Amino acid sequence: MFEVHPNPQPRSEAERAAILANPGFGQHFSDNMALATWTAEQDWHDREVSAYRPFQLDPASAVLHYAQEIFEGLKAYRHANDSIWLFRPEKNAERFAKSATRLALPVLPAEDFLSSIETLVTTDQAWVPGGGESNLYIRPFMFANEVFLGVRPAKTVTYCCIAGPAAAYFPNGVQPVNIWLSTRYVRAAGPGGMGAAKTGGNYAASLVAQQEAYENGCEQVLFTDGAERKWVEELGGMNVYLITADGKLITPALEGTILEGVTRDSVLTLGTERGLQIEERKIAVEEVLQGIDSGLITEIFACGTAAVINPVGSIKTEQKSYVVNNGQSGPHTDGLRRTLLDIQYGRAEDTHGWMHKV
Ligand code: COI
Repeated sequence: MFEVHPNPQPRSEAERAAILANPGFGQHFSDNMALATWTAEQDWHDREVSAYRPFQLDPASAVLHYAQEIFEGLKAYRHANDSIWLFRPEKNAERFAKSATRLALPVLPAEDFLSSIETLVTTDQAWVPGGGESNLYIRPFMFANEVFLGVRPAKTVTYCCIAGPAAAYFPNGVQPVNIWLSTRYVRAAGPGGMGAAKTGGNYAASLVAQQEAYENGCEQVLFTDGAERKWVEELGGMNVYLITADGKLITPALEGTILEGVTRDSVLTLGTERGLQIEERKIAVEEVLQGIDSGLITEIFACGTAAVINPVGSIKTEQKSYVVNNGQSGPHTDGLRRTLLDIQYGRAEDTHGWMHKV
């Protein structure tokens, strides 16, 4: 149970309305947050939802030095009848537990994970946008908060969950994005590394390549495997899918180096239902570039909780820009996106039992 001590000074209705009218992504946060503490002696305790506020961190707090940290991302959607729903939150709980295990952090029981989110969303329900395709983006995270500079798993850990209204992830909305193929940098070391964990370190590793992408007019980076630099893995913050002229929906297999995306998994189901033939396997970079050139690959899209499903307009290398579908989104990308959003916003029947009422 997360005890609620609501923020005594919430934003005014007018202030909130102004934010909800144009939320952007990741810039505004609701009035409260969920917190819990774990210590080696006491296990999880002090579960509460209270005012959103800065942390006071000791300069020797372990996370600031050794990056023992994990996070999740999921969304709450307001349906036409004003009810509020989460999309497959138990998958996020599961992945949070796997990430915790990889980062030698304590596992937060799934019921605590779900209860922290439900309590926070209920307390801050006025922050869940209505209408359009905005939603409340929820960011649970956990970090080593022991004041100790020795390198070992921390004995004091903080769990926190914040939330904020969000529109499209990319500043230009849902437009085809250009992808930079990184040959110099990799995101994940390989099997046994932390590529499958949702931990800040993977995102930190991606940033220099992200910078290179911006310098080359691209919005995201396509990372290859750490060993051979031959196989497609994922984008800096999203999984990647290819669609072929002969009706295949292809995505890199989960081999311990890429993130087990909840949207990725949902697209496998929705793709099958569209009659696409699913292939989860190794994909060589050369196969992708030649496939675009030959016209075999007709669509490419990125997917993730924040980005939902976003078309890829081109893949750019040092030598050449490979333009996909004339730089436009395609029918399967649009169709999958529409179907997924219709389920999430309650406009289509949830035949898979994916939606979770708050
Ligand atoms: C998400 O899609 O929720 C993520 O965590 C990725 C991040 C790029 C926002």
